[in-house]
Formats: sequence, C-alpha cells, structure tokens
Amino acid sequence: MLFGAKSIIGLDIGSAYLKVVQLKDTKAGYELELLDMLQLPPELIVDGSIIDSIRLVEALRELASKAKIKGKDVVISMAGHSTVIIKRVSLPDMSEEELYESIKFEAEQYIPFDIEDVNLDFQILGPKEEPGQMDVMLVAVKKDIINEYLSVVKEAGFNCQIVDVNSFALENIYEINYEIEPNKNIALINIGASTINMNILKGGISIFTRDSAVGSNLHTEVLQREFNLTYEVAERLKRGEAVENVPPQDAFSVMELASEEIIGEVNRSLEYFHEDVNEIILSGGCAIVKDFPKLLAEKTGVETKVIQPFKNIKIPKKFDTAYIEEIAPIYAVAAGLAIRRPGDR
Ligand SMILES: Nc1ncnc2c1ncn2[C@@H]1O[C@H](COP(=O)(O)OP(=O)(O)OP(=O)(O)O)[C@@H](O)[C@H]1O
Ligand SMILES: [Mg+2]
Repeated sequence: MLFGAKSIIGLDIGSAYLKVVQLKDTKAGYELELLDMLQLPPELIVDGSIIDSIRLVEALRELASKAKIKGKDVVISMAGHSTVIIKRVSLPDMSEEELYESIKFEAEQYIPFDIEDVNLDFQILGPKEEPGQMDVMLVAVKKDIINEYLSVVKEAGFNCQIVDVNSFALENIYEINYEIEPNKNIALINIGASTINMNILKGGISIFTRDSAVGSNLHTEVLQREFNLTYEVAERLKRGEAVENVPPQDAFSVMELASEEIIGEVNRSLEYFHEDVNEIILSGGCAIVKDFPKLLAEKTGVETKVIQPFKNIKIPKKFDTAYIEEIAPIYAVAAGLAIRRPGDR
C-alpha cells in the first residue's frame, strides 16, 4: 500500500448519474473523504457515446462545485460492448517489454475492431500448461470514445490520470471488501441505467467478462408508457416517491415486467459462461430498485447479495451513514476507481 500517496478522485460517468468518490489512505486502511452524485438529463450519453459534450462539461462542473471537490486528479472508466473488448488469450511466452513491442501484432486477430482504432493494454496472467505459451488478458478500448471522455473531463477542469474499465473497477472494490473464495465462481454484476457489466471471478481471478446494453432505463420507460409520465417524474416514481396520482403499488407491479426483461439479459450472459455461478454480487442503481435483488435471485437461481462497497472503508461521522448504506451500491464503480493510484497496473 502506498501510504501518503496522493489520493485520486474516482469519477464514474454513467449515462444517468455522475458519481464521485474520494478515499484517503490511512494506517488503518481506507477512509471515505468525499462521495456525491448528480443526475444527468436523458440522452447526453447514448450507447456509451457522448452526444452533448457541452452539457456534460456543465454537469461535471456543477458536480465539482456541489461536492466541493478539491483535487483535480481523476480516474475514469469505460464500459459497454461496443467500446471495450476484454479477452483472455494464449500467446507465445515473452517478457512484458517484448509484449509491449508486439502487442498490436499479437492482438490483431482477437479484436473485432480495426487495431488502429483502439488503445490496447494487457496483463500477463502466467504460464499455460502447454510449454512456450502464456495466458494474457487483453483489453482494447475504442480510441475515439476514450478521446471524447478525455476531452470532456479536461474541459471540466480535471486531469485524468488513469482510464480504467468498469468490470475491473468492480473487481478492485470487491477485493478490498470480501475474502477470496477459492472454490467459488462469483459473478460481479453492475446494472446501471443502460448497461450491464458482468465480471465472473473463479477463486478470485477474473475469467469471464461481458457487457450488454440493457439497464434500469427499462423501468423508467415502462412507467412512462403505463402512466403517461415524463422521464423525470417516472424516475422519481421508480425511487419510491409518490407522484401525481400513481399508487406506488401499481408502479411496482409494472416495474416487475421491466425487471424480468433485465434479468433475461443477465441469464443470457450467464449462459455464455459455460459453468455454474455460485453467487452474484449486485451493484449499480438497479440494485436499489425495490425487490430487484430478490427477483434476480429467484429468476437466476443464484444466491444474490447486494454489494457493500464501503464494508472495509471507514466512514467518518460527518457522513450520513444510513443514507450511504442505502445508496452505496450505486457507488461501487466510483469507489473501485478511487482506490487506483497512478503507476498501478
Ligand atoms: N435511489 C436511487 N437513486 C438514484 N438512482 C436510482 C435509485 N434507484 C434506482 N435508480 C436507478 O438507477 C439508475 C442509475 O444507476 P447507475 O448510476 O448505476 O447508472 P449509470 O452508471 O448512470 O448508467 P450506465 O452505467 O448504465 O450508463 C437509474 O436508472 C436510476 O433511475
Ligand atoms: Mg454505470
């Protein structure tokens, strides 16, 4: 652990909410320094692409002032099946330096995009059984999308130190809060407004990732249609607020239809992973939609726990701990980003 290392702001730019988390490294472990979020107007970010960069810059500035953010250094992350490709591949044995030199050439056959259009990174995982081969995790992110985010973040006055990936941020936050279970397959599933990020760990090591373009916007849409509401009003109703003349009970039964559709997509991803999953750790805004975790457990047949991203992080008294406990799952990615330090890999 790098005590005294400069702490960095985890900035999770979701399509529905911006989230920030900052942690302090202390001798006793991490301590929460800052946590805040801001709702975005719909359609600023669609399919992972920034549609309205001017308004996104404004929103980032608004969040910075509302949250009284002091630092400038941030870590952001990328997600989505059309933006990020993560693959475990087998490559000829070579040193990290050699792989740096040849990564483009080696990765080309595994990446479904033009190799010139992506930023590549990798992690050597270790030797394989076959002699002369090693296991490598390849990560490719579309350059044009990264650049859209970098320019918005810069325009808003931040220095982006690291660009991470949602499913790895989930793994980071899981690791500091949970014991590794050697013989279990654990699915980390983050369901936001428009994306599902899934990262399955076997004995604590990531062996399968999959993102899909479905999320809790389906709840909002179904409420809008059924009760003829605007996006904003439907969002409030979804959070359990009483709105106009809609009895909350009617809202919940309509939302269940959307939940089933979202869970259908989770089940499809689980089928692509050809082994059993022993446990789901659920995060993202969908984890706080009423009864969603229970329904997910029922319909997948897998024991489901809602993530506690701050379980091993000290929360000072100045924070409203009851509120944080309730809303915490939405901050899982931002918290995972906040434990990154420049120079890590
Ligand atoms: N109490 C709540 N507060 C905020 N959002 C909530 C709450 N309950 C449910 N939600 C829903 O969760 C979603 C936001 O979750 P999250 O912040 O994880 O998504 P996102 O990161 O913005 O989206 P994505 O990653 O899919 O682009 C919204 O659809 C929102 O309506
Ligand atoms: Mg998100």
